[in-house]
Amino acid sequence: MTNPSTRPFRSVLYVPGSNPRAIAKARDLPVDAVILDLEDAVAPDAKPAARETVVAALGEGGFGPRTVLVRVNGAQTEWGAADLAAIVPHVPDGIVLPKVASPEECNIPGRLGTMRVWAMVETPEGVLNAAAIARAPEMGGLVIGTNDLAAALGCDPGADRMPLMVALQTCVLAARAAGIRCIDGVYNAFRDAEGLRAECEQGRALGMDGKSVIHPAQTETANAVFAPTAPEIDLARRRIAAHEAAVAEGRGVAVLDGAIVEQLHVDSARRLLSLAAAIAARKA
Ligand code: COA
Ligand code: MG
Repeated sequence: MTNPSTRPFRSVLYVPGSNPRAIAKARDLPVDAVILDLEDAVAPDAKPAARETVVAALGEGGFGPRTVLVRVNGAQTEWGAADLAAIVPHVPDGIVLPKVASPEECNIPGRLGTMRVWAMVETPEGVLNAAAIARAPEMGGLVIGTNDLAAALGCDPGADRMPLMVALQTCVLAARAAGIRCIDGVYNAFRDAEGLRAECEQGRALGMDGKSVIHPAQTETANAVFAPTAPEIDLARRRIAAHEAAVAEGRGVAVLDGAIVEQLHVDSARRLLSLAAAIAARKA
């Protein structure tokens, strides 16, 4: 298992827990993480069977380096408690809780070992409490549920998502303040690669770690956009070298390509290089 702090989360694939064929397929896709879903991807009548299917899949394993998360039904639903009771003993990497409104909801009874809690932020209350939710104990990251959020707000996100921008940025702020991950919401038109790419680029520019994806066809784009590029890797290396040379000469600030390089740039450069190394290790 890789160090959690350097694990990539470029592509986080929802897989319906009711669909063993999709679960099998997910084991071979180059996604960084899977969310085996018991909530909205599963019809009410299929919930108990899906729970058994996901329990069996966790027992079987075979997900390799992918982070394995399970989204349970909300605690207030008739399935929530039974989902947790069935899933927690199988110790996935994390449990995704839907529609989290407060940090108190993130306390999972019987949570084991390295298992983390991931909170979906997809309600107005969740956005307003995002900072506190992100600081709840054992939190792995926030997953933004843009569809539910837009519906609850009564907004039309449009192509540029400006109506959601405050919420998206609030989630990034909350996650960064708490030192956890922030995963952007899904792009619904799963055959529209161009639209997906634009939305991934926007998410990356905002500081997201990766994109929620719903179909295998979205994986490659998310992986490409959220990976450090060759020029970024080159710049990171040159910034580190320039700063080290400056420090050796007794200066705290270097100048590279006409711009200053300070310790904060070196820290960002090192983070970028360790993410690039983690991605390279995954490809190998
Ligand atoms: N995870 C794993 N495999 C998936 C997948 C997913 N999310 N979505 C599709 N696949 C698989 C299919 O099983 C199929 O595999 P096969 O060739 O072995 O039969 C292959 O990819 C191609 O699928 P395709 O026929 O193009 O799509 P579809 O019409 O079967 O399904 C969706 C389209 C949108 C219904 C499906 O992608 C899906 O259910 N996505 C997840 C939705 C979800 O989880 N929503 C809740 C969170 S927002
Ligand atoms: Mg939702």
